[in-house]
Amino acid sequence: MIRLFNRNGKRAEEVAVDENGRRAVIDVRNITKTYQMGEVSLQVLKGISLKVYEGEFVSIMGPSGSGKSTLMNILGCLDQPTSGEYYLDGVDVSKLSENELARIRNKKIGFVFQNFNLLKRTSALRQVELPLIYGGVSGRSKKAKAALEAVGLGNRLNHLPSELSGGQQQRVAIARALVNEPSMILADEPTGNLDSRSGTEVMQIFQQLNREKGITTVFVTHDPWIARHTQRVIMIRDGKVVADRKVAQPLVAGESERPSEAEELEGIFQEVYYGGSREEYN
Ligand SMILES: Nc1ncnc2c1ncn2[C@@H]1O[C@H](COP(=O)(O)OP(=O)(O)OP(=O)(O)O)[C@@H](O)[C@H]1O
Ligand SMILES: [Mg+2]
Repeated sequence: MIRLFNRNGKRAEEVAVDENGRRAVIDVRNITKTYQMGEVSLQVLKGISLKVYEGEFVSIMGPSGSGKSTLMNILGCLDQPTSGEYYLDGVDVSKLSENELARIRNKKIGFVFQNFNLLKRTSALRQVELPLIYGGVSGRSKKAKAALEAVGLGNRLNHLPSELSGGQQQRVAIARALVNEPSMILADEPTGNLDSRSGTEVMQIFQQLNREKGITTVFVTHDPWIARHTQRVIMIRDGKVVADRKVAQPLVAGESERPSEAEELEGIFQEVYYGGSREEYN
């Protein structure tokens, strides 16, 4: 834990650091989320604590309904926890007002959605300029162009979403998330609507941004193959973290073939049917 002091010597923030001295970008402490629907209340997050350090590339997995999107919306300052604390870059954001949250969101967080969330009649360049317009930033066209170049779309600036492939549309969305130079990128199933080849294309971009620019990235996926391309996997079940593991050797997107369905099934049989060792049953 390092303590930072502001000018008059008062403690301003507390930031956790890992064994390599990296600061925690995300530090959530025992957060819960309860949805109230009339008389009925539904607790979806049941005390989640986790830290993500600068430059990490993390995936979140878990069954449908386990609370992944609810957690991502809180991490992305789109929603607030019912209880618990959330330190984003050392600042407790769990008790901020709507307006303050919106400001932090625009400055610190790039969000990427499963369905791209692009405007239909707007060119790629214009889509990426939008967050800069909201932020009142100057030199917008140049910055938007640079972000599109960073995701390999320097030659598609004036294309509409309908004139781009799924993978390219998602890359426009990534450029839009990047253009404000956020502290981190959050993505909720960014490859969920893509075929395998476009999914690989998007993973290549995420890996490159993480490797070359050190961008902290957290995303949700249902696909264990995709998760193996990240450095760490957090498993959520029924609103709690049930596992948090480093990936021993993250795969490099595009360098190895996805296992065939037959091989994948064989792997699952090995684990479930034979309990990992075939000999026991022969
Ligand atoms: N705004 C809401 N009001 C009431 N209940 C909600 C709301 N949003 C989500 N839920 C409930 O919270 C639970 C968790 O939803 P969440 O969307 O976080 O799951 P998820 O892990 O992202 O699932 P999936 O993998 O299907 O996307 C679900 O049971 C859902 O019905
Ligand atoms: Mg979800």
